[in-house]
Amino acid sequence: MSKLRIAVIFGGASTEYEVSLVSATSILQNIPEDRYDVIKIGITKSGAWYLYSGPIHLIAENKWQQNRYITPAFVSPDRVTPGILHLSRRENGFERCSLLNIDCVFPVLHGKNGEDGTIQGLLELSGIPYVGCGVAASANCMDKTITHTILDAAGIPGAKWRKAVPGDLQRFEELEPVWAQALGYPMFVKPANAGSSVGVSKVRTPDQLREALELAFTVDNKAILEEFIDGIEVETAVLGNEDPKAACVGEIVPTQEFYSYSAKYSDDSTDLYIPARIREEDAENIRRTAVKAYQALGCTGLARVDFFVKRDGSGIILNEPNTMPGFTSISMYPKLWEHSGIPYPELIHQLIQLAIQHKR
Ligand SMILES: Nc1ncnc2c1ncn2[C@@H]1O[C@H](COP(=O)(O)OP(=O)(O)O)[C@@H](O)[C@H]1O
Ligand SMILES: [Mg+2]
Repeated sequence: MSKLRIAVIFGGASTEYEVSLVSATSILQNIPEDRYDVIKIGITKSGAWYLYSGPIHLIAENKWQQNRYITPAFVSPDRVTPGILHLSRRENGFERCSLLNIDCVFPVLHGKNGEDGTIQGLLELSGIPYVGCGVAASANCMDKTITHTILDAAGIPGAKWRKAVPGDLQRFEELEPVWAQALGYPMFVKPANAGSSVGVSKVRTPDQLREALELAFTVDNKAILEEFIDGIEVETAVLGNEDPKAACVGEIVPTQEFYSYSAKYSDDSTDLYIPARIREEDAENIRRTAVKAYQALGCTGLARVDFFVKRDGSGIILNEPNTMPGFTSISMYPKLWEHSGIPYPELIHQLIQLAIQHKR
């Protein structure tokens, strides 16, 4: 059988551009070469698309944007001529446009424009199978207020929450006591649509709350306020379409105040434990609840679902689903599956197969 051709898309016009470079590098290093031919498509932080022909290591180093390695390339939205439209460079500018046929796309993009249903919409138009959740599930999992609304309706335990918009800052004196009454201090404030802890704050006073909202509104025009959950942070990895399975549960121990952007990617200040040091009944409950949430949100392919195990022993709280979780060699999603018996290359293979089956 001939090999399938996979387009791995990396980068993206997102605050999580750098994370994507590292995730994609890891996927490119682990994709089974006996089964797949791979082409690499890079999207710059400003949103320009290129076919990249250089070595893999330059991606993680963010040095892939070199003229000799890149030429403009775009996903064609045309169902009759689906594929990657590629402009080849001649002496004077770009001249020839050719079409590269693609069997599946792996959009290794985190956050805005990657994990929020937008690129999924483009790929739906093209008819090309793609790894991960579809348009609606991606968008629903991206917006924390919508995720909460759907999970509340499904009876899945979550933190108490309120929504805020920039106009609320004008009525802050009036709203703050209402929020404080509902959620108490400390409180978490986050942009509704972001990721990697960008714009997330833990606040203890009304003044800090105002500042945290101002910060969140620099990232998104909607924010979410949540009650503080005193818990152990744990995550499970869900894989599948109609009959999804959850892997074992892993634990994160941030040594900082919370699991911030720098704790996630820059410092060594986070310890991971696989399996999590929690009671088996809590782990079982987490796996069951993760699958229930995955189905309530309409996920397909994969999602990492994050929880807190409350320190007072009163059970679990779902924190958030991530439809394109980190895929670096030390990331939880591949690690959890590795621990549950699916090595990284086999995991990538299964994700591609799930994408192709879903399209059929
Ligand atoms: N309600 C909460 N109670 C306690 N800690 C929280 C709460 N919400 C978020 N955190 C902390 O902040 C981190 C980032 O928040 P999260 O909701 O996961 O946003 P992101 O989408 O940016 O990952 C979490 O990993 C956790 O450490
Ligand atoms: Mg998170």
